[in-house]
Amino acid sequence: MNRTIAFICAFFVTSAWADEIDNRQVLTLSAPQRHHVLTEMRDLLAGTQAILAALAKDDMAAVAKSARAVGFDMKHKAENSLHQVLPKEFMQLGMSMHKDFDLIAADAASLKDPKHSLQQISDTMAKCTACHATYQINVGQATEARLDEVAQRGSHVMPFDLEQTTHVFSKTDTGGVQQVIVKDKANSGQIRLIREHLAKIADEFAHGNFSNPAKIHGDTMPGLTELKKARQGDMTIDYQELADGAQITYASGEPTLVSAIHQWFDAQLSDHARHAMPEHGDHSPHKN
Ligand code: HEC
Repeated sequence: MNRTIAFICAFFVTSAWADEIDNRQVLTLSAPQRHHVLTEMRDLLAGTQAILAALAKDDMAAVAKSARAVGFDMKHKAENSLHQVLPKEFMQLGMSMHKDFDLIAADAASLKDPKHSLQQISDTMAKCTACHATYQINVGQATEARLDEVAQRGSHVMPFDLEQTTHVFSKTDTGGVQQVIVKDKANSGQIRLIREHLAKIADEFAHGNFSNPAKIHGDTMPGLTELKKARQGDMTIDYQELADGAQITYASGEPTLVSAIHQWFDAQLSDHARHAMPEHGDHSPHKN
């Protein structure tokens, strides 16, 4: 009996605790990217409301018009930058929802059957709720104290000046490209320091030695465990000179390593927020 009560208590305690933690999959976005997604979300809610208002008035032409506005063509200005960061499943769910709205628009115009439209809206909104149950957005920006700490530790590990240079992290389908470039293209002293440092760490990384970034960002960086474990041949790490700095290209055919590289990039981006930026879209980040 007592054991049953203890079991029931434990059950409630655990479920209450689980409720307080947001366990949904985290999408790490920059502040502008988050703003972009949430703006689209609010437009979706407004669009859905407009469809329902038109339905309530049996105005099927207005239903079609409002549904069309949140259809596939809503996809979208500046969406490119998000393609790279959002998981494929997320994009697919979003696209399938936009296509639903196009079908709702077409059916409203041709069938003019409110009950049918209502059923379609309900089915489509199940995609809203499914996605919301799965994902949360997190802005990849460390606290000010953390940024100070990283800059301080970085100054011991990286010979170039963080203020005179920019880190650019670009994720690709096979891994990513990390660039360090000077803000002033004539700054040959900093260019030399960047090249020396990146050539050195690229060589260390290729030998499974990630101690340099670990000194700056800590041993628990996301992705680091997997990268350290990568066997020779599973991942290539190439150093290249750029006119205004240098870059390291990480590539692998192993999905777990590609995802580890992406997580590791996100962690560095977040930690270097004042001196780094993501670059997405066309896979060939910063052109010379
Ligand atoms: C493919 C995924 C996906 C789909 C589909 C989706 N959403 Fe969202 N939505 C999100 C995510 C992620 C957030 C942010 C949640 C968080 O961080 O807690 C969000 C947030 C929102 C917000 C909050 C906006 C704000 O300003 O904070 C609204 C409103 C919203 N969604 C409405 C909708 C509606 C209405 C639909 C369907 C017609 C929909 N969403 C479909 C992923 C989705």
